[in-house]
Amino acid sequence: MGFAHRHLLGIEQLSQDDIVTLLDLADTYADLNRQPYKHSDALKGLTQINMFFENSTRTQASFEIAGKRLGADVMNMAMQASSIKKGETLIDTAMTLNAMHPDLLVVRHPQSGAVDLLAQKVNCAVLNAGDGRHEHPTQALLDALTIRRAKGRLHRLSIAICGDIAHSRVARSNILLLGKMENRIRLIAPPTLMPSQIGEFGVEVFDDMEKGLRDVDVVMMLRLQKERMDGGFIPSEREYYHRFGLDAQKLSHAAPDAIVMHPGPMNRGVEIDGTLADDINRSVIQDQVEMGVAVRMAAMDLLARNLADSHSDEQELLRWRISPTAFFWRSLTLMLLTMLAWAPALPYFPVTVWALASVLSALFYMWIFEEFQIWYANRKTVWRLTNRALYIDEPNSIEPLQLALTDIEAIGKLSLWSIVLRLPTHQSITLPLVPNVRKTKARIAQAIEAAQ
Ligand code: NCD
Repeated sequence: MGFAHRHLLGIEQLSQDDIVTLLDLADTYADLNRQPYKHSDALKGLTQINMFFENSTRTQASFEIAGKRLGADVMNMAMQASSIKKGETLIDTAMTLNAMHPDLLVVRHPQSGAVDLLAQKVNCAVLNAGDGRHEHPTQALLDALTIRRAKGRLHRLSIAICGDIAHSRVARSNILLLGKMENRIRLIAPPTLMPSQIGEFGVEVFDDMEKGLRDVDVVMMLRLQKERMDGGFIPSEREYYHRFGLDAQKLSHAAPDAIVMHPGPMNRGVEIDGTLADDINRSVIQDQVEMGVAVRMAAMDLLARNLADSHSDEQELLRWRISPTAFFWRSLTLMLLTMLAWAPALPYFPVTVWALASVLSALFYMWIFEEFQIWYANRKTVWRLTNRALYIDEPNSIEPLQLALTDIEAIGKLSLWSIVLRLPTHQSITLPLVPNVRKTKARIAQAIEAAQ
């Protein structure tokens, strides 16, 4: 099973297979990390830069150890003290680093979406180490590995995520991952800390710990993210602990073998009782830290394997083949037409020879047809894909239209007459292969607006 991603920006983009591939590899690294000699050469000769625009101890240390164990040259940039303070923009910083040819960029940023934006500007693989309230994919993956090792499986479990859901990227990534792996997810929080549209995620919502924790297999606690709150979300920490803090009494409502998790850093006596957090029979908080290194090793290893073939723009272009469904229907039509064309030969050959010849010639036409499209697209260079941005060159315009992949998500299909773009709104838009720049821009803007 492959892992065909250039970056690790969120759980949203990962399939069930991707998640299993990553966790299986992480399992082997978890074993390696328990050996006295913990070295591998998977990232030998590669440069990893950790850019943390927000304070972090464990995540940054975890990424650093992971990179070093795999043989990368690791550099930590203290972004708080950097030229950002002197007014440089995120993109300028990214371009400066890009010029140093790193291979892996690990980024944490207080703004949701900042890491995605950065990934569009650089040539290397980007790993999201947490962006605002958006995603924290390696945290969800390390949580998943911890659960899988403790419970022996990662599906059909009942999992409660409790606390400050509204401000938590950990909760968001975990909801996506555990949902993709077909688990029952319960969210427990005071209404002020529960996102309003949360029902759409297919989860059960509770504002009472006793009811929410009933018979669950996993209890995942979250920190009160005070740095992201801009007002009074809770009456007081004492009151919050009384109603939503996890202690032995509240945990007694969960399954007898339920495990307790927390991504850290913990506020003891606010969201969790200190003694319970240290109870090695229930708490797997230290295992989470251990699995963090293994998961980050696996993620960087898999992305590094894809680095070699993502460097050439031409290769990107060649990958825009027509979709399997389109190929099927076109082959079928061609085959029927060919059969019809060969019909006069029927009295002279057996039917099987006639059918076989028709199938083979139809496939041959299809092959030529597809090769021709790619040749055509390369020749005219009407569409150019460089470094995650799509350019449309038009003979009469001075500036080519540039579409960053925030405007479009992917090239769906490329055919002789048109190109299909998938928008982040999950809509598709079909454009003629020789486009009018102004109209194209307007149609994309219209489609995005209509979907909002
Ligand atoms: C989490 C984070 O930064 O989002 N912590 C972490 O990665 N170690 C959770 C938190 O800060 O509460």
